[in-house]
Amino acid sequence: MSEMENRMDRTPIAVLVSGGGTNLQALIDAQESGTLKSGVLRVVISANPRAFALERARKAGIEALVLPSAGFEQALAEALEAREIDMIILAGFMRILSAEFTSRWPRRILNIHPALIPSFCGQGYYGLKVHEAALARGVKVTGATVHYVNEIPDGGEIILQKPVEVLPGDTPEVLQRRVMEQAEWILLPQAAELVAAELAAKGEQNR
Ligand code: GAR
Repeated sequence: MSEMENRMDRTPIAVLVSGGGTNLQALIDAQESGTLKSGVLRVVISANPRAFALERARKAGIEALVLPSAGFEQALAEALEAREIDMIILAGFMRILSAEFTSRWPRRILNIHPALIPSFCGQGYYGLKVHEAALARGVKVTGATVHYVNEIPDGGEIILQKPVEVLPGDTPEVLQRRVMEQAEWILLPQAAELVAAELAAKGEQNR
């Protein structure tokens, strides 16, 4: 099979980002190493033109697209359609997608959350706030979760989870880094491959 035909069988993926993009980087690295082989990262999208994640995309030769904050979902729907995207990954994406949008992508949107859902999740729990809450509650174990996205914030079906120890003296920043290194950057590419393979197989049946 030629490289061209091979690529055509892969699930086209859009990654939505808001900030630094270390989870996006884990996906790019997985694509380069061949761990992510059933999907192809086609476009990285943000409403924040200053998101460093966009730089990471450009550097990897992936299209980086900035959409306006006002009317974001409409512009997003059009951008996805124009690029024939089949799967969406939220990698540090800090906006909540509407029920109208998510219902059009059942089991096709993944999100990474930096805690063991159902702990420290839902509206208001994002980024460093999640780790602050975990430390304030005094949990001894936290972790990360990859789940499907539906109309409930952090409420969709869980795909993968990985626990991470909380250590004495942890600050939110130190804990965030450990959760990223020991869980998020491993889990997200794994889940992406799992779902991309499932969707690629589905596409094959419909052909
Ligand atoms: C990550 O820890 C991610 O799990 C979290 O924000 C960080 C983004 O970092 N996402 C959420 O809190 C979503 N509710 P990154 O931009 O370096 O990937």
